[in-house]
Amino acid sequence: MNKPQPLNNSLAYLDGAWKPLTECSLPINTHALQYGTGCFEGIRAYWNGTTTNILFLREHFQRLSRSAATLMMKAPSVDEMCAIALRIAKDNNLKQNIYLRPVVYKKGLNLGPVLINVPDGFMCYSQPLGDYLDTDKGLNVCVSSWQRLSDNALPTRAKATGGYLNSALAKSEAVLNGFDEAIFLNDRGQVSEGSAENIFLVRDGCLVTPDRTADILEGITRQAILTLAKDLGIPTVERPVARTELYSADEVFLVGTGCQAAWVRAIDHRPVGGGVRGPITDRLVAAYGEAIYGRSPQYRAWLTAA
Ligand SMILES: Cc1ncc(COP(=O)(O)O)c(C=O)c1O
Repeated sequence: MNKPQPLNNSLAYLDGAWKPLTECSLPINTHALQYGTGCFEGIRAYWNGTTTNILFLREHFQRLSRSAATLMMKAPSVDEMCAIALRIAKDNNLKQNIYLRPVVYKKGLNLGPVLINVPDGFMCYSQPLGDYLDTDKGLNVCVSSWQRLSDNALPTRAKATGGYLNSALAKSEAVLNGFDEAIFLNDRGQVSEGSAENIFLVRDGCLVTPDRTADILEGITRQAILTLAKDLGIPTVERPVARTELYSADEVFLVGTGCQAAWVRAIDHRPVGGGVRGPITDRLVAAYGEAIYGRSPQYRAWLTAA
């Protein structure tokens, strides 16, 4: 996902107009560009050989609507946004896995970092997308020297464009230091999440994940994993997680729309669970893979056919 994208001339939506992506442009003094005043979603759609199925279409737009409200922006209705995304996925008919990127943003040309009296806009485009992180080989991760944004500084619960500078600092540092991904601690020194993923640990047979007050994005994949775990009879707990629990965990994995479910091989040079993928991770990753490709009737409602 961080590689430069090839020219993609697929149909996109920008403030009421349908155009090829290459013909969409914004003035350089757009408020959102100057001040990071936007919020967005990343949505995957999976091609199963016959149909493109959008994963958690409505849930993503419900979250976008909540992000926009928190950031005092006006988004189109959830129904309108779903219809726009569906049309993009359908008309582009790429016959491969794709990623949809809707953004609510301050399109005004006003000067000054303020959220009121600046007009809002909405855009959505798509691009082909394979794996964001290598989900097979096991990730080599580090605890970041950058702290997670706190809810009282820039709420991570609202998926704000400007907030991703925090992620970019952590991810860049991790990669430059030879790691695949960074884990943030929050301002209380507790484990929060990855730069673009939520985190799960397994301790003594119990699945543990930082709770919703840990300055995380309330991930849609996180919720899906909690549902799968419950249905598989795996005990789960959402609670504060201390840094060194990462080093004592039997299994650790990261989840998110982009990364899907990726197991962690080592944290800060300490192998996790002997450096092999653990049994609970295996079961959950397998169940998630079946569900997103529409092979589990039980979870068919997660998907919307385009
Ligand atoms: C900071 C952060 N945390 C967690 C996630 C996972 O969220 P989701 O599963 O809704 O994609 C993402 C991805 O969007 C993210 O950017």
